[in-house]
Amino acid sequence: MAAKKPLRLGVNIDHVATIRNARGGPHPDPLRAAELVASAGADGITAHLREDRRHIIDEDMRRLKDGIDLPLNFEMAATAEMLQLCTQVKPHACCIVPENRNEQTTEGGLDVAGQHNFIAPFVRELMDANIRVSLFVDPEQSQIEAAKSTGAPVIEIHTGAYYEATAATDSKRISAELEKIRSAAELADGLGLEVHAGHGLTFLNVQPVAAIPQLVELNIGHFLVGEAVFMGLAEAVKEMKRLMQDARTGAMY
Ligand code: PXP
Repeated sequence: MAAKKPLRLGVNIDHVATIRNARGGPHPDPLRAAELVASAGADGITAHLREDRRHIIDEDMRRLKDGIDLPLNFEMAATAEMLQLCTQVKPHACCIVPENRNEQTTEGGLDVAGQHNFIAPFVRELMDANIRVSLFVDPEQSQIEAAKSTGAPVIEIHTGAYYEATAATDSKRISAELEKIRSAAELADGLGLEVHAGHGLTFLNVQPVAAIPQLVELNIGHFLVGEAVFMGLAEAVKEMKRLMQDARTGAMY
């Protein structure tokens, strides 16, 4: 069995901006949330600049880059506009995600296998700007092999199907989806890729994912911002990190 590596928590603060934008003013400020999250022990800040700017806006990205010490992970679609913005902001990392204007959230992984010739040059441009690139993919062999062939050093495994299974409390589906994530992580690690995961992770479903030894980063947003309403953002981040670390060290078993 592979040795367990440290597991980082990247906190996605998009939905702080969703609440701010509901009123159009400056409150609550995603930068203030990022500072709080950092002081609570998060290892990185993630923000998704969507084409329709429904939550994070361009200025947020610039303020986050200038205002926080933690690595900033800029999630975006593979478009010329986003490439230009990302190379201007120069975040630590960029995660390329598929984007569909009408979706509520990122519904599936990037079709790297089907769009290899489009994505590979995009990856190269970001890497030439010294930005670490990850590709958000479903836990499927063809997508992981295609991701590797683009030259991207990192993949993030989409855990949305696992989330759906846990939300439906369907134990057969949960086991099947977990197995897909485990196999995908093992394959990617074996190919020399750094492996992250995220989407739909909560206090209740994070531990089996966090226990997968090849994973080195989880990106979690909606649940933490939602839970902040009840227990506060800093406490929610601390509890998520505790659960992740316990899973990593085997304390959950
Ligand atoms: N990782 C990626 C690539 C995402 O697109 C998202 C959602 O924006 C997340 C992680 C976080 O998902 P959630 O908000 O469901 O925790």
